Amino acid sequence: MDLEQLLSSARTELSAISSPEQLESFRVKYLGTKGLLKEASDQLRTMPPEGKRSFGQQLNTVKAAITKEFEECQARRGSTLEPTGPLVDVTEPGVLKFDHYRPGSLHLIGQTIDRLIDLFTMMGFSVASGPELEDEFHNFEALNVPLTHPARDPLDNFYLEGSEGAPLYMMRSQTSSVQIRVLEKQRPPIRIVAPGRVYRPDTVDATHSYMFHQLEGLVVDEHVTMVDLKTCIDQFARGFFGAEVKTRFRPSFFPFTEPSAEFDVSFEFADGTTKWMELGGCGMVDPNVLRMVNVDPEKYAGFAFGLGIERVAMRRHGVEDIRAFYENDLRFLRQF
Ligand code: DAH
Repeated sequence: MDLEQLLSSARTELSAISSPEQLESFRVKYLGTKGLLKEASDQLRTMPPEGKRSFGQQLNTVKAAITKEFEECQARRGSTLEPTGPLVDVTEPGVLKFDHYRPGSLHLIGQTIDRLIDLFTMMGFSVASGPELEDEFHNFEALNVPLTHPARDPLDNFYLEGSEGAPLYMMRSQTSSVQIRVLEKQRPPIRIVAPGRVYRPDTVDATHSYMFHQLEGLVVDEHVTMVDLKTCIDQFARGFFGAEVKTRFRPSFFPFTEPSAEFDVSFEFADGTTKWMELGGCGMVDPNVLRMVNVDPEKYAGFAFGLGIERVAMRRHGVEDIRAFYENDLRFLRQF
C-alpha cells in the first residue's frame, strides 16, 4: 500500500467533508477497525524484515497525521453541525391548542358597569365610590331610615360583631350610602353615579344572590324637579336598551326620598305583547337627608335613583339566572 497516496487522498476527502454523515464515513473508511490504516498495519505484520522498519515508521507518521487532521476537522465542524432530529420551521404560524392561550376579557358585570358609566358621563355625571364595609350611620341613619325600620332587621343585613359604644359596622346593603359619603365632602351642585357591590343575606336563587351590584345616582342643585328625574331615567333607558323602550313610574316608598317611585322599562315581544320589568327605585331626596349633611333644603333639591346592575345586564343579554355571573363557567363568560 502506498502510504503517501493514502495520506494525500485522506486529506482531499477531509477537506471536502460537509456533513456529519460524511465525517463518520471518513472515520470508518480510514480509522475504523476494518479501515485502511488497519489494513496497512496488517500488511506491516506480514512484511519481509527489510522494508518493515521504514514502512512501520511511515505508517506511524501517516496514522498520526490522519488522526490529528480528522480530529481537527471534527472539532471545526462541531459548532456548525446540522441538527440530526426533525427540522423545526420557526416561521410557521403557531397552533392555538390550549385554552390558556386565549386572551381574557372583562366580565359581563364589568362591561355593564363601563357601559353605564359611559352613558351617565355623557349626561354630565361623574363617578363616585364608597366603602363596602360601611357603618350604620351611612347605610341607614343619615338616609332617614329609623332604627325601627324593618330594613335594619339583623336577619336582613350582614352586621359585624360590635362592641359597646363603638359604631356598628355592616357590609353595605345599598349603594345609597355613597349619597351620604359624597354629600359629606362635596357641596352642590352634585351630579354623581356610584356603581358597586352590595350585600344581603338572601337565599340564592335564579334572581337573588347574597352579593350583587347596584348603580346609585344623585343630583343635588337649585331648582331640581321630578321632571329632571324622569327625563334622566328615560334617557338612560333609551341609551342602554334602545330608542324603542318606554319607561313607567309607579308610586312607591323609600325613607330617603319623597315622593318615591319605582321605575320599569317596557319590552315588546314579537307577538305584540308588552312586558314591564322593574329596574330600580328613585325619588326626590328627602329634606331630612339634606339636613343630615348640612345642605339647606330651602335652597337645594335633589333626585336620586338606584338600579340593579345584574338586572339590566340580564335583560340586555338574555341571561336567565343570576348565578351564571358568579360561577365562573368559561362557557358562559366567553360569550361576552
Ligand atoms: N337603595 C334602594 C334599594 O336598594 C334603591 C333606591 C331607591 C335608591 C330609591 C335610591 C332611591 O337612590 O332614590 O332598594
